[in-house]
Amino acid sequence: MYANRVGSAWEVFAPAKLNLYLEVLGSRADGFHNLESLLLPVRLYDHLQWIPSPSDAGCALDIRGLDGPRSQLPKDNRDNLVLRAAHLLARTAGVPPQGTFQLHKRIPIEAGLGGGSSDAAATLVLANQAWGIGYSIEKLAQLAAELGSDVPFFLARGPAVCRGRGEIVEPIPRLPRLHFVVVKPTESLATAAVFREWKQNFSFLDEKKPSGLSPALQALRKGDLWAAGRWMNNRLQQAASRLSPVVGQVCEFLSELGFAGSAMSGSGTACWGLARSARHARNIARRISNCFAGQVYCISSCSAA
Ligand code: C5P
Repeated sequence: MYANRVGSAWEVFAPAKLNLYLEVLGSRADGFHNLESLLLPVRLYDHLQWIPSPSDAGCALDIRGLDGPRSQLPKDNRDNLVLRAAHLLARTAGVPPQGTFQLHKRIPIEAGLGGGSSDAAATLVLANQAWGIGYSIEKLAQLAAELGSDVPFFLARGPAVCRGRGEIVEPIPRLPRLHFVVVKPTESLATAAVFREWKQNFSFLDEKKPSGLSPALQALRKGDLWAAGRWMNNRLQQAASRLSPVVGQVCEFLSELGFAGSAMSGSGTACWGLARSARHARNIARRISNCFAGQVYCISSCSAA
């Protein structure tokens, strides 16, 4: 993501992400879990703008365009990841936080699509420019990891394999553009609740297969979507389905529609199907929209920067 100047303001388009593969490798002493995951930024964006204000006015956040219940956002704006990111950057760089951040939300909340994390990364990029700080992406990535496990991924500007709790980001070049149908049920899930459920009910099951990540990546690079799709999987899917059975129903439904692969994204509740082309995605999305109460998107992956 890049900050663009618009008159005296700055703007960033903050993409959503899909997890095409997510394996939980085990619990950690810090309460998090070690993961191995393939993430792609996709072309569904929140829009974040920074508008200047007198320097002693502090920092404000204005949120618009939210789909779904507003109660899923922190009640106090100060807990929003945008303001937390802005204050962390200001504190670290020793500059006064200033201006108004205007966030236009389009990415559904608590969907496993990384909207909040992407907004946080966008804030770091935006404020770094607007406040003339000039930190490198590497320095911003250190701050990003303090804000959330997925935040550093969004600074990588392309597909990546993420490890550790998510903050160790290995960019993956040369992936073709991919086309998806993404289905977001009306129900949402909090990430912490899904990991808790996994730990209580699934961590003891030693059913791990050899990692499907390398074969999935090799097949994707060759453009063999069906071979890649066979390796795509999300270890948190069963835990999320226990908390919200509609996730299991949606995943089963998607698996019968002729996609190359399908799974839940992140900790849910959004699920995706990998189509063979944009047209294929549009055709299937139309069929799903006719019989499904939630939101249905046709989305392609962002090309790497
Ligand atoms: O890092 P983030 O704030 O997105 O994580 C939200 C919650 O998800 C954490 O508090 C933790 O309970 C869980 N989590 C985890 N292991 C990870 C990432 C998140 O247990 N790798």
